[in-house]
Amino acid sequence: MGRFPSTKSVENTPAFAAAPDIHGGLDIDAVVARWGASATIVDDICATFGVGGGGAARAKARELGTPRVLLTHKNENVYNAYACEIAAMTRASRSLCVGMFLAMGDARAVRHAAGLRAEIVPLFARDTAEALLADVETLRVTFSSHVNAPETAFFHDCVARHPHRMSSDALGAAFGRIVDSWGAGLSRARGDERQMEDVARFAVIESARGYVFGLVSYAPSSLSLRAVDWARKPQHFSAGTRAEIALACVNVAAAGCEAAFDVDSGSAALIDPCCGSGTMLHAAWTRGFAVAGGDISPGAVAMTKTNVGYFVARAGQSSTMPRAVERDALEPNAFQDAYGSHKRVGAIVSNLPFGRRVAIGGGDGDGRASVGAFASEYAPMLTAFRDAADRHVFISGVPIADDMRAMGYKNVSDVSLCRFGRSFMTIALGESASGALEPATLFSVDEALERAAGKKEKKWQKSKSKVDIAARFANPNALRIAIDVSYEQDSTRARRSVAKQLCECVGVSHRNDNLALTYCAWRGPIAEESREYFFSDRWDCIKKDDRDVEEVFAPEDIVYMSPDADEALDEVDASKVYVVGGIVDLATRGMRTSVTRATNAGLRAVRLPIREFKPEQTHTVLNIDAVVKILAARRSGLSWDETFERELPKRQKKERPKREKRERVVE
Ligand SMILES: C[S@@+](CC[C@H](N)C(=O)[O-])C[C@H]1O[C@@H](n2cnc3c(N)ncnc32)[C@H](O)[C@@H]1O
Repeated sequence: MGRFPSTKSVENTPAFAAAPDIHGGLDIDAVVARWGASATIVDDICATFGVGGGGAARAKARELGTPRVLLTHKNENVYNAYACEIAAMTRASRSLCVGMFLAMGDARAVRHAAGLRAEIVPLFARDTAEALLADVETLRVTFSSHVNAPETAFFHDCVARHPHRMSSDALGAAFGRIVDSWGAGLSRARGDERQMEDVARFAVIESARGYVFGLVSYAPSSLSLRAVDWARKPQHFSAGTRAEIALACVNVAAAGCEAAFDVDSGSAALIDPCCGSGTMLHAAWTRGFAVAGGDISPGAVAMTKTNVGYFVARAGQSSTMPRAVERDALEPNAFQDAYGSHKRVGAIVSNLPFGRRVAIGGGDGDGRASVGAFASEYAPMLTAFRDAADRHVFISGVPIADDMRAMGYKNVSDVSLCRFGRSFMTIALGESASGALEPATLFSVDEALERAAGKKEKKWQKSKSKVDIAARFANPNALRIAIDVSYEQDSTRARRSVAKQLCECVGVSHRNDNLALTYCAWRGPIAEESREYFFSDRWDCIKKDDRDVEEVFAPEDIVYMSPDADEALDEVDASKVYVVGGIVDLATRGMRTSVTRATNAGLRAVRLPIREFKPEQTHTVLNIDAVVKILAARRSGLSWDETFERELPKRQKKERPKREKRERVVE
């Protein structure tokens, strides 16, 4: 799944339907006129993807206007939240396959969706690439005469692999020939967002059932994904909600009545009565909605104020700070003043307290996995919330949809947000909605619950072989490795990558009883990222320490691994602690970051003897887990030759990696 260069402003987007006389010269009207009525393409798409209902869909398309193909991120568990979001924000949409939707009518609001990757105006849909290209050849695109060198760009995006696929290169070459016949050129500015604004972006979307060709009418910039900003909040909360899920919840709650929630002109507010660290409030605020919240815990309210306040302050004076109050959501009349928002309560959006960390009433969770929570525990809250608003979106640790229906909530639908049935999103759209949502999910609630039951069984069987971490760290022969997580990463991608590699190292440690692995400086964004995305709470065979590495270990025992060190490592010795730096940031390339860090702290720095034993190896900067594996292999008694033969990543053994910009880590 690639990323589409963003469309900077909607109005300058070549395929923007409301501005057909587009900036840059492509005459979209002419294109659409040649392609025919939008109903034709709806028919073609329905036939290609076997979604049926062509006749009805065609009628609807005629009535509603230009159809759009929406691509969403496909991230495993969050995808179900995205599917709800698309279903709610485009009620006349249908799922073509996982990650791809056909939306009819004005789906402009969907551009705020947390999961949206790109919006495409479809021109042709066919079940093979060859048939599609034959259609594209019939296009005759004209460019306004004032444009000297009209540019187009071409993207091939694979949502799922087609059984008889055509390669990106072949598709690109064929498209290039067609573009030549239009008298236009293929843009060289691919990927450079600043230069892409006036370029007409065409895309071929490949799926297992067929291909769609169209104009990219909108793609959000990764920089404008404000959900990502939330990672920068000052205070982290272990029971916090994922930012993407929070935004999806808010979008679902406000779908179709966004104007009512407008912070300046609307009459309604979104309320999160269990606001924790403020994720829902932040998500609603980024959308310009009126929002307020509360929590029974004074600490949580303070955290919300600090976190949300941090972003509001940066947004400037005109931005309204959402209110957060200390309040028991179960207290009578809790919603009477709409948590001080001066509006009516339009929707309640909340990640309810459950599970290992928090409990209803604000106490600590009892350590149970949420699977063991009881739906009955939610009953008092669900009863109290029912009449306080028309619309409700809840995250819970057990399915609550049936209970909610029984309590009289209307138009209830739910999805599982975890393959193993640990969290659920339940939506009640109220009496006035035109039915419950029918999101096309990746896995159903029932499947998740079935897997949860299976996993419980497996867990029970595995419990006997639980890791004895105390024994591991007490073993004088164990290989001691520490990962230094103190480095700042300046992108989400880099943070995610470090967290992923730390997770890989946990796997290495699981398979090797002789490894005593400590993650030092375990605080801040990497710790948060690991918890959110890699379940670091369950990493049971390593130690996590929030202190810096030189505080945890005696400095004279520390051997700091750095590719820029002068000294080459020889023996790997149980009396030492080998420290690997956690950096994967391109910005640090060539900056001798880890060797500088070691030298400044007065620590001995060494490098792996790759130059000596693998002189043909051009890349000596390895992933964190690769360094850990190499140290462990050497410690197990292998020679350096054997170690590198076994553990150096295969593609690094000989040749230069194909991707110039691959991520790098400081060993
Ligand atoms: C799962 S957390 C919410 C997480 C939040 N969405 C976030 O991202 O940080 C649940 C919150 O409910 C609060 N809580 C528990 N019982 C409550 C009650 N009776 N009234 C209000 N808040 C309550 C807890 O203090 C906790 O902060």
